[in-house]
Amino acid sequence: MHIERYEKLWIYAFVVMLAVFVAALMAGAILFNVRVPGSAGLINPANLDETAFANPGIRDMGDGNYEVYMVARMWSFQPSQIVVPEGAHVTFYVTSADVTHGFIIEHHNANLEVLPGVIGVTNTTFNTPGTFKLQCHEYCGRGHQMMHIDIIVEEAEVALAANEE
Ligand code: CUA
Repeated sequence: MHIERYEKLWIYAFVVMLAVFVAALMAGAILFNVRVPGSAGLINPANLDETAFANPGIRDMGDGNYEVYMVARMWSFQPSQIVVPEGAHVTFYVTSADVTHGFIIEHHNANLEVLPGVIGVTNTTFNTPGTFKLQCHEYCGRGHQMMHIDIIVEEAEVALAANEE
């Protein structure tokens, strides 16, 4: 079978491109541990009071690991502030009590779509002290732009002193 020279070139280019894309995906997943944020299951948004989301907040799991249970609703997040020590590795479980919201943390690789009925899960490590915005990045009504909270990452010594008090 005769294949045009240019046709052949494009076929080669396509195969090379495909190989590059697959290699980039593999490198991201294996070398850089990039994961698509997942779901930790389904939940009835009308019954959050009978679940772990009844008391939104941060839990110390030891060894620098923390879990945050967070509820998004028009137009606030609970808890309304999060304080962690430098180096904290935090897993966020996030769900919505009403409509679709967003969840993104400034300067960190944590980005979710927060759906009613779904428990979104993502995690990140806070290596730099400072204050970082966690905000809703999905338009959710007239109070959308007010829907953000602060994550305060304390220097290791400050956090230690606060715990000893
Ligand atoms: Cu919630 Cu925008």
